[in-house]
Amino acid sequence: MLAGRRIVLAVSGGVAAFKSAYLARRLVEAGAEVRAIMTRSAQEFLGPQTLAAITGSHPHVDFFEDPDVSPHTDLARWADAIVVAPATAATLSRLATGLSDDLVSGTVLAFTGPVLVAPAMHTEMWEHPATRRNIEVLAGDGIVVVGPVSGSLAGGDEGPGRMVEPEEIVEALREALGSGTLEGWLVVVSAGGTREAIDPVRFIGNRSSGKMGNAIAVEAAERGALVTLVTSAEPPDHAGIEVVQVESAAEMAAAVWERAPGADVAVLTAAVADFRPKNPSAAKLRRAEGLPELELEPTPDILSGVAELERRPCRVGFAAEAGPAAEAAIKAKSKGADLLFANDITAPGSGFGVDTNAVTVFTADGSSEEWPLMPKRAVAAALWDRIIELRAAMPQPGARPRRRRQDRS
Ligand code: CTP
Repeated sequence: MLAGRRIVLAVSGGVAAFKSAYLARRLVEAGAEVRAIMTRSAQEFLGPQTLAAITGSHPHVDFFEDPDVSPHTDLARWADAIVVAPATAATLSRLATGLSDDLVSGTVLAFTGPVLVAPAMHTEMWEHPATRRNIEVLAGDGIVVVGPVSGSLAGGDEGPGRMVEPEEIVEALREALGSGTLEGWLVVVSAGGTREAIDPVRFIGNRSSGKMGNAIAVEAAERGALVTLVTSAEPPDHAGIEVVQVESAAEMAAAVWERAPGADVAVLTAAVADFRPKNPSAAKLRRAEGLPELELEPTPDILSGVAELERRPCRVGFAAEAGPAAEAAIKAKSKGADLLFANDITAPGSGFGVDTNAVTVFTADGSSEEWPLMPKRAVAAALWDRIIELRAAMPQPGARPRRRRQDRS
C-alpha cells in the first residue's frame, strides 16, 4: 500500500518533531518515497540533515531559498499524500484558512490528494476554541486528523495534546491511500510472458518480467481483495495472494477462464504469445538434423475469451506497444476490455523489467487519458482507484455476497 507511493512529510515546529524522524524512517521502510518540508521553527527542534539522511533528499524549507522555481506546486504535483506531523496550532490555523505564507501551507493548498495532520501542542492550546474551530474546518475540508492523545507534553506538562506515535500515522496513511477499498472483491490478475514449447528445452517467449502484474496483485491484496495471480514469472512474496504458476498461453487461458466467472475484476497484464509451435517436438531438436520447420498456430485470446463469458467480470487489459499507443483504442474495443492500459515500451522508463511505467488509459467508449511516468506500484494504486470509479458507474449485475478470505476454496 505504501510501497512506491510518494509522500510529502511536512514538519512544523514542536518538540514532537523528533518523532518525525522515526515517522520518515517507517515510511521509507514501508517502501514509500519521502520528501520532507520543514517550517523555520521545525528546524529548531530537528536538524534538516537528519531527515535528509533518512529520506535521501534534502528537506525543502523556504519558497525563496529553494532551488526549484515553484517548490510548492512541484511537490504538490509529485505527492500521492501529504502528512503534516507534528502539526502545530499555527500550522493548523494556516491550513484551515488557506493562509499560504510558508512552504508547508503553500504545498497543502496546491495539493488535491489526501492530507493527514497529526496535531501536537499544549492542552490549553488544543482545547482553545480557535483550535477547535480550525480542526472542525479541516475535517470538513476532508483533511484526516490523527490524534492527539493524552500524555506527557513539553516542559513536564500532562494532558491531551501529545502527537500520536509514528506507527499510528502510518496506519492512518495506509487507510487514506485506499486500504480496504477492495474488501470483498475477488480479483484475477495475469502476469509474465508465456512460453510456448518448441521442444523440451526451447521455447518461444518474450521479455515480460511480470513486475506490473505483481504490483497490481500486491496493491489489490493490500486493499483487502482476494487475489489470484496467474503467472509465468516470479510471483511476489505476499501471503494474501493465491499464485497459480503456468507456462504456456493454453495453461494461462485455462487458469484464467476457470476463475474469471466468479471474479469481480480480471486484470490481464500478461504478455501472451500470439503464436505457438503447432507440433512441439517430444525430443530435443538436434543441430545435426538441419534447420527445423516450425509450423505455428494461433494461441487462444484470453482477454476476448473472458469478455465472451456469460458471467464476466470487469475486464482490464494491458498492451505493450512499440510506438504511439493509438492502436490500443482499437484493441480495447475488439477485445471487449472496459479499460486498456497501453504503454510504449520504446519510451524511456516504460520498457520491460524496469520499475516505472507511463501508460495511456483507453476506455470502452474510445476516450483516453495519459498518465505521467510513475513507479509501477503507483500505477497499480491509480489503476485500482480508476477501476473502483468505473465499477461505481456501472450497473451491477445483482448483489453478490461479500466474500471472506476462507471462502476462496
Ligand atoms: N491477450 C490475451 N491473449 C492473447 C494475447 C493477448 O489475453 N493471446 C491480452 C493481454 O494479456 C493484454 C491484451 O490482450 O491484456 C493486449 O495484449 P497484446 O499482446 O497487446 O494484444 P495482441 O492481440 O496480441 O496484439 P498484438 O498483435 O499487438 O500483439
